[in-house]
Amino acid sequence: MKILILNGPNLNFLGIREKGIYGTQNYESLTTLLQQKAQKEGHHLDIFQSNHEGALIDKIQEAYHNNTEGIIINPGAFTHYSYALRDALASIEIPKIEVHISNVHKREEFRHTSVTAPVCTGQIVGLGLHGYLLAMDYLTAARN
Ligand code: DQA
Repeated sequence: MKILILNGPNLNFLGIREKGIYGTQNYESLTTLLQQKAQKEGHHLDIFQSNHEGALIDKIQEAYHNNTEGIIINPGAFTHYSYALRDALASIEIPKIEVHISNVHKREEFRHTSVTAPVCTGQIVGLGLHGYLLAMDYLTAARN
């Protein structure tokens, strides 16, 4: 299965930023974890991180053109206010899973709102990096 994994702003700083919240594993460990699972299960992953809204939107549009079958996205802080990212996600009709490493509902009020979740298939929050793996399991199950 062809899957796009998108990570938004500051997720390249995993292992550096707020370790009590996001853990000590770095971004590279996350990509390794995902690639190992994908390899075992025969998926093709495109893993992309950007601190820029437009770059994430470009990747979503590219996914439409290259027949990507599912998207796993952690939009970072864009989750809470990016209508442009929401519109990009809404424009493609493939399964899209929103993942948050931390439990955003336990945190500041502004993190309780996601403008992107309503246009995604589902959302996984607060399960650490494991959330990405569960999202991959869902995409596989939904396809079969
Ligand atoms: C996050 C939660 C967001 O509120 C925050 O801005 C992030 C990471 C998470 O994975 O828990 O950058 O998306």
